[in-house]
Amino acid sequence: MASAFVAFLLLFYFTSAAATFSDTSHVINLNSQIHAKIGPTAWYSPSGRFAFGFLPQGNGFLVGIWIVDYTNNADSQNITVWTANRDHPPVPSSATIELTREGRLVMNADNGEIRIADIPEAAACASMEDSGNFVLYGESSNAIWESFDFPTDTILGGQKLPGSHTLFSKVSSSNFSTGRFRLDMQSDGNLVAYPAQIAPEPTDAYWATGTDDKQGQYYLHLDDAGGLKLGEEEFNSKVIKQLNGNYSENMGKTIYRATLDPDGNFRLYYNTSTDHLWQAFNNTCQAKGFCGFNSYCTVTDHQPSCYCVPGTDLINSGETYDGCRRNFTKQKCRGGKTDTTFSYITTAQKLKWEDIPYFSALMSEEDCKKSCLDDCYCDAAEYDSNICNKHQFPLRYGSRDIQKNSTTFFKIGTRRIENRNRTISPELVAVVTTSKKTWLLIPLLTVSLVTYSCAALATFGVFVFKTRVIKYKWLLASRTSGLAKELTLRLYSYKELKEATKGFKEELGKGSFGAVYKGNLNNGEKLVAVKRLQKLVEEGEREFQSEMRAIGKTHHRNLVRLLGYCTEGSNRLLVYEYMSNGSLADLLFRSERCPNWQERVRIAIDVAKGILYLHEECEAPIIHCDIKPQNILLDEFWMAKISDFGLAKLLMPDQTRTMTDTRGTRGYVAPEWQKNMPISLKVDVYSYGIVLLEIICCRRNIDLNVSRPEEIQLSGWAYSCFAAGELGKLVRNEGVDEKPLERMVSVALWCIQSDPILRPSMKGVVLMLEGFTNISTPPCPTA
Ligand SMILES: *[C@@H]1O[C@H](CO)[C@@H](O)[C@H](O)[C@H]1NC(C)=O
Ligand SMILES: *[C@@H]1O[C@H](CO)[C@@H](O)[C@H](O)[C@H]1NC(C)=O
Ligand SMILES: *[C@@H]1O[C@H](CO)[C@@H](O)[C@H](O)[C@H]1NC(C)=O
Ligand SMILES: *[C@@H]1O[C@H](CO)[C@@H](O)[C@H](O)[C@H]1NC(C)=O
Ligand SMILES: *[C@@H]1O[C@H](CO)[C@@H](O)[C@H](O)[C@H]1NC(C)=O
Ligand SMILES: *[C@@H]1O[C@H](CO)[C@@H](O)[C@H](O)[C@H]1NC(C)=O
Ligand SMILES: *[C@@H]1O[C@H](CO)[C@@H](O)[C@H](O)[C@H]1NC(C)=O
Ligand SMILES: *[C@@H]1O[C@H](CO)[C@@H](O)[C@H](O)[C@H]1NC(C)=O
Repeated sequence: MASAFVAFLLLFYFTSAAATFSDTSHVINLNSQIHAKIGPTAWYSPSGRFAFGFLPQGNGFLVGIWIVDYTNNADSQNITVWTANRDHPPVPSSATIELTREGRLVMNADNGEIRIADIPEAAACASMEDSGNFVLYGESSNAIWESFDFPTDTILGGQKLPGSHTLFSKVSSSNFSTGRFRLDMQSDGNLVAYPAQIAPEPTDAYWATGTDDKQGQYYLHLDDAGGLKLGEEEFNSKVIKQLNGNYSENMGKTIYRATLDPDGNFRLYYNTSTDHLWQAFNNTCQAKGFCGFNSYCTVTDHQPSCYCVPGTDLINSGETYDGCRRNFTKQKCRGGKTDTTFSYITTAQKLKWEDIPYFSALMSEEDCKKSCLDDCYCDAAEYDSNICNKHQFPLRYGSRDIQKNSTTFFKIGTRRIENRNRTISPELVAVVTTSKKTWLLIPLLTVSLVTYSCAALATFGVFVFKTRVIKYKWLLASRTSGLAKELTLRLYSYKELKEATKGFKEELGKGSFGAVYKGNLNNGEKLVAVKRLQKLVEEGEREFQSEMRAIGKTHHRNLVRLLGYCTEGSNRLLVYEYMSNGSLADLLFRSERCPNWQERVRIAIDVAKGILYLHEECEAPIIHCDIKPQNILLDEFWMAKISDFGLAKLLMPDQTRTMTDTRGTRGYVAPEWQKNMPISLKVDVYSYGIVLLEIICCRRNIDLNVSRPEEIQLSGWAYSCFAAGELGKLVRNEGVDEKPLERMVSVALWCIQSDPILRPSMKGVVLMLEGFTNISTPPCPTA
């Protein structure tokens, strides 16, 4: 009762004070100070509802802005809406904030002066405004710095989050450091939520407004009436999407605030209330990364919780969000074979894993289980409606979904972990110690991460988590490239290769350069493909070797690796890694099942990345000249790899000149090449476009077994379906979402433009396929 009375007095004081303040009385003049412990501890806005000053954090203090709570309800409290240097350690109670005589806003703590605002010129005064904006003014009363320009996790009524700006959640309601989620106002007009610990990729997004594929200046705006909307700067701030209703009846009196909460949800609140008016999604488990590695999220009694998957324990006991690690020792994978005596399978129902599996195929439940058990790399397999998705540890983005009728198999070992003192899980340690490249990659990736989220890196805990994710990603990326293998080419003798192939007995196929044979090296331990070159231009030994070295220098996960070669007399043989799953042509045209849409998209992107590497990322650009499904091979994990690259030069020493001998394959050859005009990297783009259409539609470019004559040539038919808005026909109404289908087809149609100038670069192709750039409507390819 008494405190309610005090609160009432306070409210009365502030509201009456506000009424009597003149325009300048709340101005903070130079040489003003506030202190963490002894008053004054804050600078207030004229109404007294906002304060700028010291906030308790842990055992110390942080600088921030908060909404002062006068309601005195048990469940409400001061609400922090902004913090400065949120990832710095808290300062002790001896700290002061000062607007110095020289016009700088700084904090003085034990260890010296910390800048709060980076300003281009000296400030003349400052002000905590009633909007919640803290502003520094210059000599000519112009705002030179505003806290609204540097939002942390909240925007207030009247505030905008401009394009290319991001909100980062806080760790918890009492820890203001950068937390686990981010909300990006992307420059393409899409507002997207991602886990914060990794560089954002489309596949990691867990919520989006879907307002992408636009061009212009976009922003998120919370208006004074509590309406959240996406707007466009041009065209008089046109609203492109309203996220919620508004509450105009309370306009003027109520403070609205939209916050990316520590649980990853984006919510709208009013005043100091902790009950939300609106939230982006209702199921907390939707936030990817809500639970740590190898655990899944489930909601019980409206409360989300995380549980370790079978065979794992919490990394830090008691910390359920930190993730889990194996409670058994996993043997090393040698040649993909698993030591079956130590594994058995346990199952869990209704789990959903939203991370991309490394393998996905149609099969029966029993086969799925067996496939995981037999595959050393498999740690868990998710089986749902005849689709088997195999995953490796660490598992991410798991949740329990009662709508789902899925079974997840987990491989469990019985061998105990000997040394529990390690803080990083053993499999990750193994990667680090076997690969020098990992260390090269970490600084590289870290640099790019720094540009993404400087702030997030500042705390060590976050950093450790992040490097773990990076190592994990690298583990995935390099799974098949053989981390420990030396990167130099081996010179083989003819005799050795003849023995390895049992006298060139088993022919795998015939390419434009000669036949390919299956071989066995190291006493049968290593399968290889040996290519016997024929029809070479007359060329000296030295040129051949330098060519081999150039090819040997190419290392990319989507290129078939050249392991070595042989040059003896007139014999020229190349030794490649063996691709156990045949060619893309077999997969698309010959197998009884067409791979599912996700798998096809993944293959298309992989192939594009391989060509991009040849064109732009290796030492000297390589034109492949013969991109076709027969030259795209699939390894044991169904990863697509391009073969036969770099050999065109052996036939045609100067690639940039006109090619007189048409080497490319009919159906895939760009028009300019057929016309004997100079060729460029764009011939590969054309061929890729045709291959992309074949991947999308799972049929050959030229197919005579079709019902109607206009469907015989795929490239022409695809454009007419595109123009008529009937893309579903291309995929036999397989139930593919319209947007991704349209994106893929548009990219293909741009690639097969007869004018090479109109075709995009491979870089552009990859960006478009991955959804990073907008795609304009392609014209008719043959126009
Ligand atoms: C806040 O969280 C970060 C990251 O989890 C941690 O490093 C820091 O110690 C926490 N601060 C306080 C005061 O608890
Ligand atoms: C809320 O803010 C007011 C004004 O700065 C302050 O006096 C009060 O102690 C704060 N309350 C809490 C619980 O921190
Ligand atoms: C509130 O929403 C209605 C309809 O959505 C709109 O007409 C009105 O202008 C909005 N009010 C404010 C203050 O934005
Ligand atoms: C928010 O607080 C103000 C001032 O205390 C009050 O007038 C207003 O009604 C409150 N808004 C709501 C929705 O309760
Ligand atoms: C969440 O639930 C509320 C009330 O049940 C409903 O009005 C709202 O549309 C739901 N929001 C979403 C994003 O599904
Ligand atoms: C690992 O945990 C599972 C439960 O998830 C338990 O059944 C199993 O016995 C544990 N194994 C070891 C080696 O501790
Ligand atoms: C769930 O799947 C099982 C077999 O995997 C099947 O027997 C059952 O009918 C399915 N239930 C529903 C509701 O689809
Ligand atoms: C783990 O660490 C503790 C002390 O930190 C040590 O006593 C123990 O021997 C260690 N255990 C092993 C298996 O190394």
